[in-house]
Amino acid sequence: MQAVLQGEKASRPPVWLMRQAGRYLPEYKATRQQAGNFLNLCYTPELACEVTLQPIRRFNMDAAILFSDILVIPHALGLQVGFVTGDGPKVEAVQTANDVEKLAQRMADVDQTLAPIYESVRLIKAALPVKKDLIGFCGAPWTVALYMLGDKATKDGAPGRVLFYTNRAVFDRLIQVLVDTSIHYLTQQIKAGANIIQIFDSWAGHVTPDMFEAAVQQPLLAICAGIKKEFPDVPVVLFPRGVTLTQMQQLAKAGQGMFEGLSVDYTTPLYDACTTLQPYVTVQGNLDPALLLADKQQLVAAVRHMLAQGMATRPQEKTTQKGYIANLGHGIMPATPPENVAALVVEVMNFSN
Ligand code: CP3
Repeated sequence: MQAVLQGEKASRPPVWLMRQAGRYLPEYKATRQQAGNFLNLCYTPELACEVTLQPIRRFNMDAAILFSDILVIPHALGLQVGFVTGDGPKVEAVQTANDVEKLAQRMADVDQTLAPIYESVRLIKAALPVKKDLIGFCGAPWTVALYMLGDKATKDGAPGRVLFYTNRAVFDRLIQVLVDTSIHYLTQQIKAGANIIQIFDSWAGHVTPDMFEAAVQQPLLAICAGIKKEFPDVPVVLFPRGVTLTQMQQLAKAGQGMFEGLSVDYTTPLYDACTTLQPYVTVQGNLDPALLLADKQQLVAAVRHMLAQGMATRPQEKTTQKGYIANLGHGIMPATPPENVAALVVEVMNFSN
């Protein structure tokens, strides 16, 4: 997968799946129970390593993704974070300029909390077959900020937009704290053995067109620049969920040389995404995770359709065209039958054109 992101041609696309480790796997549920609570699972290297490798053992995907969560950053910055199954995550709310300054003061100490995650990366790297990639990740500043702005902020992003309009200095400071902490966190993951980075901007679709550049594009590219400065050869994939294809194209043009891949969500027509984005970056995606709950014939037909679009060669652009990585358009759902995940992976691995 790293080679494809670096521009090499491949006869079949690499494949991994967002949330490939998770509650749809009985072995995950068992390890999760052993850990007691979700954050314990993230901070216990042996257990985090175990759940990271579970989907690789079962399905043999091309890449493993570190098992952790985007909310370990607010947690490491001193906020209380809780995961109540079925209820979604709960983060202690940041409200005032003073609250944000308190976070800023904790920045130098985040490794007191995050060090076990770097240890997980080392364990995973040591246990993973050499041909497999190890994806490190974090959440994008806008998305992580929304989780820090109150319980319902991710519903439509309103608290984030209100802060943007009513107290731009505090908004910018919060985003800056998250940019700087994310660069540090990702850099440490790379030093520990991650060889690809993905940044999840799951709520990027909640900004207005006028806010896109300041709230989504600039913070994402600032993180990319921070990584490239130290690790120019580690490819970065961005997942700005819910944005328009025009915005993704704008991002790809503005970020040339700073990131290598764009993961597209399941609402985006894949062929259009490839035509528009592959001149600049590798495209990843975008099977609807709900199809993994459909019958197998329907699933396989949809996978074939996706691969045909992602791997279509357009002769006039052939020489400059970037690659394609098979994935979902969002994370695997807990009700997914594991055998359907197997069918998806096998279908990609059997692709030839
Ligand atoms: O396999 C992988 O993809 C790696 C692990 C991973 C998790 N979360 C594990 C997890 C990754 C990459 C994430 C990213 C993440 N976390 C995102 C971005 C991707 C996306 O889904 O849009 C977001 C928005 C979060 C925040 C978060 N964490 C949510 C919304 C939830 C679900 C809450 C619930 O109870 O359903 C979590 C918890 C979480 N993170 C789980 C897992 C496997 C489920 C926790 C459990 O076991 O009970």
